Amino acid sequence: MARKIVLILVLTCLCIGLAAADWNILNPIWNINERQDSLKNYCESWRINVELNNIREFDVVPQECVAHIKKYMTSSQYDADCQRAIEEVTLYLSRCCSLKGDGKDAWIFDVDDTLISTIPYFKKHGFGGEKVNSSSLEAWMEESKAPALDHTFKLFHDIKDRGMKIFLVSSRKETLRSPTVDNLINVGYHGWSRLFLRYAMQLT
Ligand SMILES: *[C@@H]1O[C@H](CO)[C@@H](O)[C@H](O)[C@H]1NC(C)=O
Repeated sequence: MARKIVLILVLTCLCIGLAAADWNILNPIWNINERQDSLKNYCESWRINVELNNIREFDVVPQECVAHIKKYMTSSQYDADCQRAIEEVTLYLSRCCSLKGDGKDAWIFDVDDTLISTIPYFKKHGFGGEKVNSSSLEAWMEESKAPALDHTFKLFHDIKDRGMKIFLVSSRKETLRSPTVDNLINVGYHGWSRLFLRYAMQLT
């Protein structure tokens, strides 16, 4: 994976190199715009490759891309992307299977950034530009203040109304069970069958 990142970096350097070769001393503003475009392209490539799970193990967002990630996460584009994802799921759901209503049909949801959003926390902590401090993130989770993600909220209730069982799976620790349940109920989720969290023995 490191090789892939290096490759992206090398490609970006190449592009900057090419832009520099075309640099025109009479028009320095053009050059600045070119460089900004190149950075924007690099950051967007980085973001999409994280989404695609090509880039997996990273501690922080590259510093030069923090502003880009912040802009995306708070943009109408992020909202549109979430909406589209849920529309595709709904389409799949309407075509995939005939539900028999025998209690054997089930749906699994993740919790963070699926049902509820961690954006308010990351807004205060540099949008991924800082290494995640798990004790401060968990302290925030204990406050049970994460808002619902609107599009998934509708899907959750749609699925429940179809009579499917809902299971929730989260990498949150068992010690966060009660604040997690409170948070989900506070924002309007209810009626799931079980919430699976990490066992106590995996706490460390
Ligand atoms: C992590 O967060 C806790 C609680 O907010 C704080 O006490 C601690 O100093 C932080 N650790 C680091 C390395 O920033």
